[in-house]
Amino acid sequence: MKLKVNEEEREVDVPEDVPLLWVLREELGLNGTKFGCGRALCGACTVHVDGAPKRACVTAVGDVAGQAITTIEGLGDEAQLHALQQAWMEHNVPQCGYCQPGQLMMAAALLRSKPEPTDADIDAVMAGSICRCGTYPRIRKAIHAAAKARTGAPKGGTP
Ligand code: FES
Ligand code: FES
Repeated sequence: MKLKVNEEEREVDVPEDVPLLWVLREELGLNGTKFGCGRALCGACTVHVDGAPKRACVTAVGDVAGQAITTIEGLGDEAQLHALQQAWMEHNVPQCGYCQPGQLMMAAALLRSKPEPTDADIDAVMAGSICRCGTYPRIRKAIHAAAKARTGAPKGGTP
């Protein structure tokens, strides 16, 4: 089966019903996407498929063949960090770090659909991404900071 992951063509020999998360981690070595609950409840495994957030733990790989899959490894790179990655560092968002790839992918999808999100927008979208370390206030601040960096015109929310 041919997959398009982080703008590269990849070929994998797996049954179509294997979860995308397994293929990313075990076949392609992309370990940034995390396994949390395995039941679409925590958000740790969030990736983008054709730009939309998807829970890779409950997505059959056969359903996304040929679509553009983006993982945390493809969000930005060291030479050009995504504005969210920059803001995450500036606001020291992660604690243990385990949930953070999923948080970043969810936040990136939010900024794509709402470049200047309010606190309510952030809370509504990020509510399904669980952080056992309770980094939610820093996540919210970092999303506002990234929005400001990208648009130069933040609206609402915690400074
Ligand atoms: S591991 Fe996929 S949502 Fe929790
Ligand atoms: S930073 Fe530890 S679970 Fe979120």
